[in-house]
Amino acid sequence: MTGSYRVGVIRGDGTGPEVVGEGLKVLEAVRGDASFDLVEFDLGADRYLRTGDTLPDDELERLRGLDAIFLGAVGDPRVKPGVLERDLLLKARFGLDQYVNLRPVVRYPGVQTLVPSHTEDDVNMVVVRENSEGLYSGAGGFHRRGTAHEVAVQESINTRHGVERIVRYAFDLAMQPHRRKKLTLVHKTNVLTFAGDLYQRVVDELAAEFPEVETDYVHVDAACIYFLDRPGRFDVIVTDNMFGDIITDLGAMIQGGMGIAAGGNINPQGVSMFEPIGGTAPSETGKGTINPLAAIGALEMLLRQLGEAEAADRIERGIRAATQQMKSMRAGEMGYTTTQVGDLVVEGATS
Ligand code: IPM
Ligand code: MG
Repeated sequence: MTGSYRVGVIRGDGTGPEVVGEGLKVLEAVRGDASFDLVEFDLGADRYLRTGDTLPDDELERLRGLDAIFLGAVGDPRVKPGVLERDLLLKARFGLDQYVNLRPVVRYPGVQTLVPSHTEDDVNMVVVRENSEGLYSGAGGFHRRGTAHEVAVQESINTRHGVERIVRYAFDLAMQPHRRKKLTLVHKTNVLTFAGDLYQRVVDELAAEFPEVETDYVHVDAACIYFLDRPGRFDVIVTDNMFGDIITDLGAMIQGGMGIAAGGNINPQGVSMFEPIGGTAPSETGKGTINPLAAIGALEMLLRQLGEAEAADRIERGIRAATQQMKSMRAGEMGYTTTQVGDLVVEGATS
């Protein structure tokens, strides 16, 4: 089955446009009969510096009408930290209610990582990061700012509705045929006794609906140890927004580096947005040294979400063919340029 889709493209800042370009090259090579109307969005640092706009409401509405969104990365040293992150990236995630941040942690064949003892089978998990609340809700404020008696409050908001929908998504994922039917809650229930308690109760309650799924619990600090020491104990992880942000950077490193880690901001009932999870690497811009595999992997996830499984499988094959030839996933160490890596994927995907 093939369809026709309208996909928003936000190339973004720094090396974002370079890796998005490689992704779109791969899309053209694997799409088969499916057609993609690419809708370009001028969003990011340049637009902000030119007009002061980050993500105007009418642009958000245009995004809402699409079938999916492909995002490079946003962030630029010329812009004060937090502006593009909060008012563009997080505004899109929240505004489109993309409550799942899905981040597979997969080790592809041949990839060298910082943990030589890991085998290819050890690293094969997926992190389901809550993406709409927690510490990212923006709740809090200053009191007596700039004085010796300043108070800064940053609150973690955890709703029953929000926790239940993310935990349910994770259970459903654990039941999918390619998963090992194990769900681990990662939190800090020994200290965050309110939010952690809610998460644990919801996991325990929903477990009754999913008797085939084995459930487990690991504190977030211990999870960092296990990522290095015994990653094979994880299949599907569910965690809150902040912990999910942190552990998926560690996850990227056991995959081989930020250059390989892809993610999706998913609204199962709405429009989802796929991105490489790394940043804009301003110092590498224009050098052709950034690995585009993360962006290409994000595109694979986008195609899967749209139901274009065959095209997604082709990308998967292409990525595996490419990693088998490359020594390292880290920028500048691969002996390949950004464009050459894209070409390797196209070759592997279409041969
Ligand atoms: C990520 C990033 C973002 C986050 C930043 C850029 C706001 O680190 O996607 O992991 O914290 O979610
Ligand atoms: Mg992050």
